[in-house]
Amino acid sequence: MIHNSRIPFLDLITPHRELEEELVSVFKRVVHTAVFVGGPMANEFEREFAQFCGADYCVGVGNGTDALRFALVAAGVQQGDAVVTVPNTFIATPEAISQVGARPDFVDVNERTYNMDPRSLQEYLELQCCPDGTTGRLVHRKTRSPVTGIIPVHLYGQMADMDPILELAARHNLLVIEDACQAHGAAYFSQREGRWKKAGAMSKAAAFSFYPGKNLGACGEAGAVTTNDKALAEKVRMLRDHGQRQKYNHEVEGYNGRLDALQAGILLAKLKHLPQWNQQRLENAHHYHELFRSHLDTVTLPFISPQAKSVCHLFVIRVKNRDHLRARLAQADIATQIHYPTPLHLRRPYAFLGYKEGDFPVAEKVAREILSLPMYPHLNTDQQKRVVEKVIESLQPLPVNSRMAQVPSPPALGGQVP
Ligand SMILES: Cc1ncc(COP(=O)(O)O)c(C=O)c1O
Repeated sequence: MIHNSRIPFLDLITPHRELEEELVSVFKRVVHTAVFVGGPMANEFEREFAQFCGADYCVGVGNGTDALRFALVAAGVQQGDAVVTVPNTFIATPEAISQVGARPDFVDVNERTYNMDPRSLQEYLELQCCPDGTTGRLVHRKTRSPVTGIIPVHLYGQMADMDPILELAARHNLLVIEDACQAHGAAYFSQREGRWKKAGAMSKAAAFSFYPGKNLGACGEAGAVTTNDKALAEKVRMLRDHGQRQKYNHEVEGYNGRLDALQAGILLAKLKHLPQWNQQRLENAHHYHELFRSHLDTVTLPFISPQAKSVCHLFVIRVKNRDHLRARLAQADIATQIHYPTPLHLRRPYAFLGYKEGDFPVAEKVAREILSLPMYPHLNTDQQKRVVEKVIESLQPLPVNSRMAQVPSPPALGGQVP
């Protein structure tokens, strides 16, 4: 229950209150057994989550960034390689690529789904890259980096258009790792396979984050790699535990990236509720669509491809005067977020890649207009009505003489570098 009229961006209190007894009993079990890292609860969670995703294996790790890093290393990405992703993601995606010694290269996104645009990917692979004269490997024409992987991000809960991405990857012998950190339970109808496939089971490996605000969130940090490749799962198991299969028998240099037993137990308890929570999110998304129905000239609503089942991690609208709208909603005690304010090719950590404003016009345009409205399973109808009423009211044209004073012009994207 929300006890005041503030509408939070995310309500993490209600679901935890509802599950309090179950979560406390997990804590007691951990304290009584004193198995704090890995152990039976972590194993059980891995089995259950693999099954949930329709994948053969799941390896629990410390967080989603670990999951991406370990998946890249285990899949064979090497120092100096290039791995292609999108600029409108959380920084963890390119961070993981850089931190395994590879170079993140970006391609633009689709203007309706905000996910990787397969045509931009094709243009990158077939115009900006060519086979190396000596090795025959695909290299970037300018940087000469061998291109070895693609990370499509299933943004906001909707899976990327995986069929053409996988087809391009097969044509150019590239591995694909899904960033499924926002897509627990999302699905995609694969025309190639003639069936629905879930996030986490469509590529070489997938990375999940269980950060508390995710659709399936821990009470702290946690993540997982899912895969159908037994050898890759074994490698991730070693990497998360200092490169050892048996204590002190280190086979490679690894990381400290294990899953806590407490988080695993909590995730196991919450996993039972995830289908219901995802359904509630979907209903809330439908309700937002209904409430906005007669305002589609001013507000662009999320577009879900007929080939996708979104788990509505975020509900992201687009409007022309986003910063003004966000300020008005804040005045009305309605919390919003921007995912993400600056495409990463324009952020300082990636200045070394040499991109400039204009390189990814869709990601840049969208970044100026997007606004994430409150979205969570326990968001109620009255709250949604209030949000939508306030959005509509705030978007009414202002009287001509007050326009200049009240409406801030959108800042240049490059100007938002920290
Ligand atoms: C798209 C995406 N990738 C990667 C991550 C990283 O996950 P974590 O914060 O658990 O390391 C997140 C989480 O915020 C994410 O949203």
